[in-house]
Amino acid sequence: MDILPVLFRFLHIFSAVTLVGGVLAWVYGFLPGLSALSADARMKVENAAAAAWRPLVLTSIVGLLVSGFWNFLTNFMHREGLKAAWHPVFGVKILLALHVFAVALLVTKQGNEKRARQLKGIAFSGVAVVLLSALLRALSK
Ligand code: HEM
Repeated sequence: MDILPVLFRFLHIFSAVTLVGGVLAWVYGFLPGLSALSADARMKVENAAAAAWRPLVLTSIVGLLVSGFWNFLTNFMHREGLKAAWHPVFGVKILLALHVFAVALLVTKQGNEKRARQLKGIAFSGVAVVLLSALLRALSK
């Protein structure tokens, strides 16, 4: 058994779960839980959570980029037999992934007044990326 593909696949899936799961936990758990607080108290708690969450965001972005590019360069760039739709779907996935990365970093900035709206946006894009990834797998068989 070749161990490297297993390790990179683990890194990709673990980083995806950490990043997208973290965003969903903010949107559907943490933000509704804070809604009873005053605006000032809410911002204080959110800022503390954002600062604590930032290292996880950074490491999962690096993990996704390293494992995603490794997988693309070693397995897909020259692969024959990919369905015609694989490349355009991959292109859309990358654009959405870049949206998730950029906005997830913005969300962790202190005092961000648009945090809740931005988190909802990347919750949508993050789920779409996972859906497109499932589609890619079917298109590469
Ligand atoms: C928010 C960011 C991302 C998420 C949530 C995500 C999620 C996933 C998931 C769940 C899979 C399926 C894993 C499997 O079945 O083994 C996958 C596959 C893949 N990902 Fe990502 N990914 C992201 C970003 C990236 C990036 C930035 C790249 C490339 C630079 C990339 C390249 C790939 C490739 C090449 C595959 C295999 C596709 C196939 O089976 O045909 N991903 N991704």
